[in-house]
Amino acid sequence: MRKKLLAANWKMHKTPEETLAFFREFLPLVAGHSRDEIVVCPPYTDVHAAIQSAEGSGVAIGVQNVHWKADGAYTGEISAPMLVSLGVTHVIVGHSERRQYFGETDDTVNLRLKTALEAGLTPICCVGEVLEEREAGLCDDVLRRQCVRAFHAISAKKAAKLVVAYEPVWAIGTGKTATPEVAAEAHAVIRSEAAEVFGPEFAVNLRILYGGSVKPDNASSLMAQPEIDGALVGGASLDPKSFTAIVKY
Ligand code: PGA
Repeated sequence: MRKKLLAANWKMHKTPEETLAFFREFLPLVAGHSRDEIVVCPPYTDVHAAIQSAEGSGVAIGVQNVHWKADGAYTGEISAPMLVSLGVTHVIVGHSERRQYFGETDDTVNLRLKTALEAGLTPICCVGEVLEEREAGLCDDVLRRQCVRAFHAISAKKAAKLVVAYEPVWAIGTGKTATPEVAAEAHAVIRSEAAEVFGPEFAVNLRILYGGSVKPDNASSLMAQPEIDGALVGGASLDPKSFTAIVKY
């Protein structure tokens, strides 16, 4: 069985002090919770505070992006070896906000994935259609294209740690959640594409998270879908109580 993964994407929120305060409240609430994996992805500037806070708790710390080169003249970028040396274990790759505002393409997603996997990080690769694509009946095509390009020239062996997050862009931060059935359909498309690329055995074990306005009151119906292997949570992960309610769906 695939163990569910509940991941917090804090986006550009919280200072180190606020990070410490979050973990002071959050960790006792989830102490001993071993049914699911829990990951918190704060901004880079909070990583140190997050890792110190979460040490020994079983809660893993991730980040929201990674550059594909190990080092070099790339002003403003952060590399995989830098993250690994801090104790970071997960990285979100190809989030729709990166695609929309920062020029992320399917090709750079592929580069980042390769680098993250090479470094032993667990990448959470985000895919998802925009509203116009869904309305035009292009959802499946878009998901297949994003997956094929993201997974290009990566072997099943190398991809072992890969996690995918289905995040319909129209559901992110909008309060509009995909129904569990709509999400499950999209997950099935992603899983069949993963089977094409990596083989059926890989696809059966691949964890596919849902993201987009996951809240305490819709988490359990989403998580009840066998196709949905966890959640990537933005807004509702900023508050320790609300993220706990999601973790304990
Ligand atoms: P949201 O964000 O939960 O605030 O919709 C999800 C995400 O962008 O990962």
